[in-house]
Amino acid sequence: MCGIVGYVGKEDATPILLHGLQKLEYRGYDSAGIAVRNHDSDSLVVKAEGKISNLIQKLNQMDFHSTSGIGHSRWSTHGKPSETNAHPHHSDDFNVIGVHNGIIENYQELKEKLIRKKYNFYSETDTEIIIKLIDYYYKKYKIGPIDAINKALVRARGSYALAIMFKDYPDQVWFAKNGSPLIVAKGENGCYLASDVPAILKYTNKVYYVSDLECGVIKENDVRFYDLNGDDITESKKITVIDWNSDAADLGNWPHYMLKEINEQPKAIRDTINAYVKEDGKLDFKSIGLTQEYLNKLDEIYIFACGSAYHAGLVAQYAIEDLAGVNVRLELASEFKYRNYKMNRNSLAIVISQSGETKDTYEAMLKAKENGVKTLAICNVKGSTISRSADFNAYTYAGPEIAVATTKAYSCQLIVLYLFALFLARTNYKLDKDEYYNLINVVKQIPNKVEEILNNQTSVQRLASRFVNKRDVFFIGRGIDYAVCMEGALKLKEITYINSNAYAAGELKHGTISLIESGVAIIGVATQPELIEKTVSNMVEVKSRDGSVVALTIEGNDVEKASKYQLYIPSFNPHFMASLAIIPLQLLSYYVSVSKGIDPDKPKNLAKSVTVE
Ligand code: F6R
Repeated sequence: MCGIVGYVGKEDATPILLHGLQKLEYRGYDSAGIAVRNHDSDSLVVKAEGKISNLIQKLNQMDFHSTSGIGHSRWSTHGKPSETNAHPHHSDDFNVIGVHNGIIENYQELKEKLIRKKYNFYSETDTEIIIKLIDYYYKKYKIGPIDAINKALVRARGSYALAIMFKDYPDQVWFAKNGSPLIVAKGENGCYLASDVPAILKYTNKVYYVSDLECGVIKENDVRFYDLNGDDITESKKITVIDWNSDAADLGNWPHYMLKEINEQPKAIRDTINAYVKEDGKLDFKSIGLTQEYLNKLDEIYIFACGSAYHAGLVAQYAIEDLAGVNVRLELASEFKYRNYKMNRNSLAIVISQSGETKDTYEAMLKAKENGVKTLAICNVKGSTISRSADFNAYTYAGPEIAVATTKAYSCQLIVLYLFALFLARTNYKLDKDEYYNLINVVKQIPNKVEEILNNQTSVQRLASRFVNKRDVFFIGRGIDYAVCMEGALKLKEITYINSNAYAAGELKHGTISLIESGVAIIGVATQPELIEKTVSNMVEVKSRDGSVVALTIEGNDVEKASKYQLYIPSFNPHFMASLAIIPLQLLSYYVSVSKGIDPDKPKNLAKSVTVE
């Protein structure tokens, strides 16, 4: 969703805010803006529609020195993308200026109240309303910023991360949070706030996570936190040290973050394996609290996630059931919250989320907690909302993921899930010692196999040119291959805008096959030895109806007659095949996207972290 930044310190604020916004551009990119203030309390608000480069161009023509400011990159919710709707928003006299990530649900009711108090509105946003409400209480009760913010926010329903400047406090930026992510950090040359870590990593790696219903202020040398009563709670806050290095979020010489992140997968996977496989070759999940005693009692496992994280869950379902013999119930987090499902207390709920901020996933997790079920979070961002609320945390070590379409974080989610399945299998005595160590060693080979595929991209690049003009692409597969199809289809549609959908190959004859005609492309994924024959015969069926079939299969498999084009990947243990099969599909999506002139890092309408419903 939107990204917000704030700075107060010794340096010129504008470049710091712009750097932060560029690092957060993945969160939203239909417009951007900053507000800066100097010691005399003169302020400047500059906004531009479109990418942050448009804002930078405008700012290049201005000369305004300031040491505090706030900034915003927008993914529109209320009001179409435009300069007027872009943040920051301000009270008429610029007494209060603010940026906001989230949605104020009762904005209409608050607006009507303010109209009665003679406030005018220039934009269609809910943010302008909340800023003016803060201004209203600040002036009406002649109170300080914290009290004014709290008075306004107890009347607001919805989610927010806010950064606010008050004219009377030129060297301070105030903040408040409920439901949208927000971090605050103290560096050598000032204090920072941001929606996400990459925005401030250049300056410091020590951050405070702001909790819901907390507010506070950053000054040149100080950060203070307050609760809803206005009491100072700074002493209770803990610093989290982020172990990402500062250039991990830089593009370097790569044309796009997505290509960089696809190619980072061998390292990301290796780092994730090394976090759980100890020197003696054993798996360690005990140190995160998952004891044998607890795991042995589990009747079943729930998995909640959205999008690609859900697709990782789909693969995990097979790994956990096949290897550990524990039943898995996988649910779309965005749907589960509407169910009146009575969860089994002798179960574990696994929530998978790269960002750790996805609202739907967080809410499904809260529902599990309400049902008395313990939760295991698989997140990539330490200290994120989901990881802070989980009973157990098994992090992925993908490093910062910037491209909107996930690649390396998905691959690392698979690794944690495989290793968890193996740990559970050994705990349940479903695997004997030799099988267990043998399978851990197989997982350890995944980075090299992925590297091998990445080193042979020519056939995928060639194939991409044949997809540029396609309107419809169907992915078909069975079992784990179907899970790969789901993720492959999502990758393709989100960054190429081609209508691509995944079907369980066995479902084709139950309706979908009527859509097959000349010109329609079908990608058949066939990597599971026990299912290959069946999927291949489905490929033959669509080929004989003039569908243009691409077979993605393992080396040595004869699919030439069933398909027009072939993509081969190395033969590997079928349990973990998804980790290899997804790589050519990520590359295919990337190359088709670029050939169509689309920026794969910032596909239209999408945002990296979905903190609204
Ligand atoms: C697709 C993609 C999304 C995310 C989904 C969940 O490429 O990235 O489908 O997987 O929005 O996000 P997280 O994992 O942050 O909860």
